[in-house]
Amino acid sequence: MSERLWELEPTPAEMRALVDAAMRRIVSHVASLPDQPAGDLDAAEAETAALALRAPMPEEGRPLEDLLDVVFDRAAPRSWNAAGPGYLAYIPGGGIFESAVADLIADSLNRYTGVSAAAPCLCQLEANVIRWFCDIVGYGEGAYGFLTTGGSLANFSAVVAARHEKLRDEGLARGTVYVSDQIHHSVEKAAHLAGIPRANVRRIPSDAGFRIRLDAVRDAVARDRAAGLSPFLLVGSAGTVNTGAVDDLAALADIARDTGLWLHVDGAYGGFFTLTPRGRRAMAGIERADSVSLDPHKGLFLPYGTGCLLAKDGHALARSHGYWADYLPQQSDTLERMDVSRLSPELTRAFRGLRVWLPFMLHVVGAWRRALDEKLDLARVAAEGLRAIEHVRVVAEPQLSVVPFRLEPPGVTGAARDEMNRDLLRRIVARGRVWISGTNLPPPGTGAEGGRPEGWVLRFCVLSFRTHADRIEAALEDVRAAAAALL
Ligand SMILES: Cc1ncc(COP(=O)(O)O)c(C=O)c1O
Repeated sequence: MSERLWELEPTPAEMRALVDAAMRRIVSHVASLPDQPAGDLDAAEAETAALALRAPMPEEGRPLEDLLDVVFDRAAPRSWNAAGPGYLAYIPGGGIFESAVADLIADSLNRYTGVSAAAPCLCQLEANVIRWFCDIVGYGEGAYGFLTTGGSLANFSAVVAARHEKLRDEGLARGTVYVSDQIHHSVEKAAHLAGIPRANVRRIPSDAGFRIRLDAVRDAVARDRAAGLSPFLLVGSAGTVNTGAVDDLAALADIARDTGLWLHVDGAYGGFFTLTPRGRRAMAGIERADSVSLDPHKGLFLPYGTGCLLAKDGHALARSHGYWADYLPQQSDTLERMDVSRLSPELTRAFRGLRVWLPFMLHVVGAWRRALDEKLDLARVAAEGLRAIEHVRVVAEPQLSVVPFRLEPPGVTGAARDEMNRDLLRRIVARGRVWISGTNLPPPGTGAEGGRPEGWVLRFCVLSFRTHADRIEAALEDVRAAAAALL
């Protein structure tokens, strides 16, 4: 091995050795994912192990293999296995390997992509990704967007764009936002971060299918206008985290048009199901929204850290986020040459485009269509299997790939039923094959909820590209066994 010229610059041979050593661990880790525990973490043991990893800033180096031991043997195994096939909790992640390779390339290139002039061709690759996403949603020519770190920041920029386009100088204190009682909390947080008073976020009750009630939206907007407030933003869900419910997006687009509100659709979980015919039908009207959040690190199975905001009028993002300074290069007004820093809150940023571009170019879009279609099928198989278990109720039919359910034996209600279902969850995850989570469904409001269940429920969310029929079968077996032990 030749000598390093500079301390922090490995020689070519050292670079290869670094990657080879990491690669050996990565390959065996990924290959063993199906056999790893799904994520039943011993919290006390993990806390002790975490404290044992505390260390002062190093003054002496340690061999790479020792450090890889820390990551792969001590740290990673003590976690929810969000990359594994048994992860059916919250909204599953993914982590397709081609994206990791793209990240290695992007980080090694380390080119600046905050302004287009700095790397026009690399920025074009990312612009292609944005254009593909616009096509997926059904947006036309004038639409554009940017890749961000996740759904939360996409929702944040959507609120900022809506605030700028609709509220203008009317004063934040009067601006009001309309969301359903099933909205993801990141939307309410986004409104708060964007300066909208918490009290001005209206939680509209949802209907029997956990979709936002349209009559209640119209009433609330009219009431607030009459009271001198400034309604400016309506947010619909293309897949809620609780039950996977998809709001009636076409009807919301009508309401937004009639009332002059900005319509944002939070498609962080469900948006990419528009790649499938069933998802497209469920989300009819999404293309009429002023903006849409998508999370490639959910629906495209990418590694964490990739979200996206699209706007039907791409220039609206530049109007609400754009800044310029004398030390920056001249900006282009063409959407595809628009600096990401002008459309988004960030200036210096990771080159995220490559982690989408590379796998898309290698596999082509059909691979995702088929994988997402499989998830829709698996959710239906799961719902049918759950219904066949005595005293298990599927509390909402899967609209996408979330299946909420619970045990409802006769005579067990209220807090006792909630506790029984918490116990059910503990017993299911203790078997180590699936990792699931629960949620609380709100009590029905005063309208068209028609016998909708409330209280604590368990849920399967099928979204990992690694989850297939065998794991759903295992999940059903584990529910069956846990329910039998409880009854
Ligand atoms: C519907 C929905 N919206 C927004 C978010 C927030 O996205 P992120 O966690 O990528 O910030 C999530 C996350 O699960 C979600 O399910």
